[in-house]
Formats: sequence, C-alpha cells, structure tokens
Amino acid sequence: MESVKRIKVKDLLQSTAYGSEVTVKGWVRTFRNNQFIAINDGSTINNIQAVVDFSTTDEALLKRLTTGAAVSITGELIESQGKGQKVEVKVKHLEILGDSDGEKFPLQPKKHSLEFLREIAHLRFRTNTFNAVFKVRHALAYSIHKFFNDKGFVYLHTPIITASDAEGAGEMFRVTTLDFNNPPRTETGEVDFKQDFFGKTTNLTVSGQLEAELAAMAFGEVYTFGPTFRAENSNTTRHLAEFWMIEPEVAFADLTDNMNLAEELLKYVIKHTIDTCADELEFLKNRLLEEEKTKPQDERSELDLIAKLNFCLSNDFERLTYTEAIEILRNSNPNKKKKFKYLIDKWGADLQSEHERYLVEKHFKKPVILVDYPKEIKAFYMRQNEDGTTVRAMDILFPGIGEIIGGSQREERLEYLEKRMGEMHIPADELYWYLDTRKFGTAPHAGFGLGFERLVLFVTGMTNIRDVIPFPRAPKTAEF
Ligand code: 4AD
Ligand code: MG
Repeated sequence: MESVKRIKVKDLLQSTAYGSEVTVKGWVRTFRNNQFIAINDGSTINNIQAVVDFSTTDEALLKRLTTGAAVSITGELIESQGKGQKVEVKVKHLEILGDSDGEKFPLQPKKHSLEFLREIAHLRFRTNTFNAVFKVRHALAYSIHKFFNDKGFVYLHTPIITASDAEGAGEMFRVTTLDFNNPPRTETGEVDFKQDFFGKTTNLTVSGQLEAELAAMAFGEVYTFGPTFRAENSNTTRHLAEFWMIEPEVAFADLTDNMNLAEELLKYVIKHTIDTCADELEFLKNRLLEEEKTKPQDERSELDLIAKLNFCLSNDFERLTYTEAIEILRNSNPNKKKKFKYLIDKWGADLQSEHERYLVEKHFKKPVILVDYPKEIKAFYMRQNEDGTTVRAMDILFPGIGEIIGGSQREERLEYLEKRMGEMHIPADELYWYLDTRKFGTAPHAGFGLGFERLVLFVTGMTNIRDVIPFPRAPKTAEF
C-alpha cells in the first residue's frame, strides 16, 4: 500500500481545511455507539474524533476498534456536529495497524489510580495525565538548555562513573566487574580493587559539581544536565535513587550572583512552560483540583496550579539566613505545640522537610532562599564565613516540595579548603585534581544543583516524584 503522509492530531485539530482528505494514525482511546472513535497520537493531550459509518463497515473490523488498538484512518475533515471539538474525520478507509485485546489491555477508559499506573509504567504514557506530565518535563528540559545557551554557558558532560564522592556523604552505588562470589583478595584478605576494571573502587556519580568546577575555571560559565545516583534508603515522595540534576558553575561569582541566577532560571523555565504547555497545565490543574477534593479543607492548596506558577513568577523569593529561619521555627506554633516530628530546640539542627515546608507554605507563603548554614551540616567545598561557624550555602525551598535547589559559593582559598577536608576526612590525595584549581589561578566561584524531578513535580502539581520520571528507581524498585 502506498504510504500516505499522516497529519498529527495536534495540527488536525487546528485545521479548517474542511472537505480535504486527511490521514491520521494513532491509538484508540474509546469507541462509542459503534460510531465514534476517539484517537490520540500523543502530539496533544486532545483526541480527534473519527466517525465511522457502521452500516457500510465490515462488522469484524468494527469489533477490532478496541481501546489501545493502533489505527490508520483516512477520511474527510468535516466540521464537527458534536460538542467539545471543532473538527472530526468522516472515515473513508480504516486500517487496524495493531490489535489490542480489550479484555486484557490494562488501561480501560476509566479512572485508574496513580499507584496502579506506576505498576504499568510501560503503558502509562498513553494516559492524559502522563502525556501532560512528560510534555511538561520535555518543555522544562528544553528551556533549561535554552536559558543557559542564550547566556553563553557551555554544556558540560561530566562522568557517570567516578572514583570520587563529590558530596562526601557516602551514599554511592558501587560499580565493579569483580566476581562477587570469588573476588580477588590482597595478602591481608581484603577485596583487591586494584584488580577491578578501573584498578580502583568506582561508583555512580552523586553530582557532577567537582568536574564542573574544573571547567568553570576555564570557560567561566558551564552547566551540567545529567543523571545522578544516590543510594540513600529514603522511601519518600521526593527522593529517587536515580535522578537528573542541573548544575551550573560560574567563575567570578559570589553567593548573591548564585541566588540571582537560580531565581532567574526557575522563573524562566516556569514561564516557558506556561507559554508552551497551556493545554497540559490546564489538564493538570483540573487533575489536582479533583485530587484535592478528597483532602480535608486545610490541606488543600490556596491557589490552583496555574495561579501558583504565576504567583511564583511575580514575587521575589524571600532571602534570609539559616539563623533567622531557626528563630522563626523555634517560635512557630507547630514547634511550641510539639506538632513537628523533629522539634527545633537549638541552632545547628538540620532542617527537615516539615520545617522547610512550614517556612514556605505557612510563614512566608512564597519561595524562600536560606543562606549561611552551619558548616557541620554542609559539604566540605563551601566557602567559610568569617564567623568560623557558617558557610556560604544556599538552599531554595519551594511550596509542596521543600528543597528544590542546593548550592554555595565555593571555598577558593587552598589553605581553608585543605583544612576543612582534613577535618571532614575527605581524602585530599585522591582529589589532587580538584585542589589543583586552587593552586593554579584560583578565583571566587559559585554554583548550585537543581533537582530536575523536583522541578517537574512542582510545575505539574503531581505529588509523588515517581510519577514525573518515566521509569523510577527507588529502593526495591527497578522495573522496566
Ligand atoms: O543538595 P544536593 O545534594 O547538592 C549537590 O549535589 C551539589 N553538588 C549541587 C551543587 O552545588 N552543584 O542536591 C541538589 C538537588 C537538591 O536540592 C534536590 O533538588 C535534588 O538535587 N536531589 C534529589 N532529587 C531527587 N532524589 C534525590 N534523592 C535527591 N537528592 C538531591
Ligand atoms: Mg541539599
């Protein structure tokens, strides 16, 4: 058969070329009254309706119009009689490209729970919710690259396999080709990693920051955008074992420059998504409203999804120090009434997500940037303040999410860095290449890491991070 050029549903729905012959290919969402086929091809969240004349169509063929089947339809584009769509296709030729057994196809034309859809993640792309989520994810990824490209940043590909623990937190997945059942041993009986593939112990990267810093000391402005891995055993709605991170690193920049860049980036990508994903966001807004109907009034959002995104664009993020935040939290109602799981009693406590969310959602009611954290709860590479107790760290906290960005001005002074590494038992000899940047033309610089899935979570209004990455990796979860 001669292959006819298909028109995407998205374009077809905009078309007014009534009377013209068109070919559309996609998957059947529903088939009603032996007459109306709703077809989706993924180009838009909306379906095109095709109308088949059952009196002239082979009955066996009609029976194969089941939910999930792939079809090719050629017919005349006509103005729609029905409500809800402008155009429809009057079927002249109908071909089933791939059958779908209606009894067995797990996606029925009804509401499925997100938990169920997670179990069939290989098919969930075919639902409106996941069509919208992954379109938004795409728009965010694209606009992140565009933002940095337009500013002259260089996109740096940092290694996935590495011998260093960038965060010094030790939550790494080991990479090895040694025979687990019979590993080579040293004379003293330890596993001999000198005989491993790379001649030393290696792991999946937790962050590309250290390598990004090397490049920033040459290009001035770089960013990474790649997968990162954390073997933290956190079964939460905000943690993944494999997630994507965006890490800009800028030379000759201090913490204020860093905050400004981060705020500008977040606003830019949210704006881009509002501008390009209107249908998707409208759908997600309504989905969230439905979901929140099941919650008690005080747990529902004050703003709907789109209003929340616009609110974010039109307000400056609140900037304050960790010390100021601790005072607010210490005097807060949930702390006094012992409603927090972790009570704030002294300076130095690490903030839990309940505290971050209190600051953002209840106290300031807008995004917050906290700076100058105690050095004890932050990584070795952060620039030390004159007070000797805090570092030039910044965390950006978002409503419903908590920490979305973590970053800092970096310690560019060799002697301070070496001393801190010693105190924190970070092996300086293994990181000689990192220290070299401080020996040869060191300069003030700063950067941050934006957790991509947390951003997608925020913009889509989804509640579980496993629903904004195609195939989530989490403890005991590595299907597909
Ligand atoms: O705060 P983190 O650990 O910072 C770093 O890795 C720095 N090297 C970044 C830098 O300065 N270049 O992680 C950065 C962000 C967090 O704010 C959070 O959004 C996200 O990464 N993140 C996670 N997202 C999903 N699942 C996890 N397990 C995450 N851990 C961190
Ligand atoms: Mg952090």
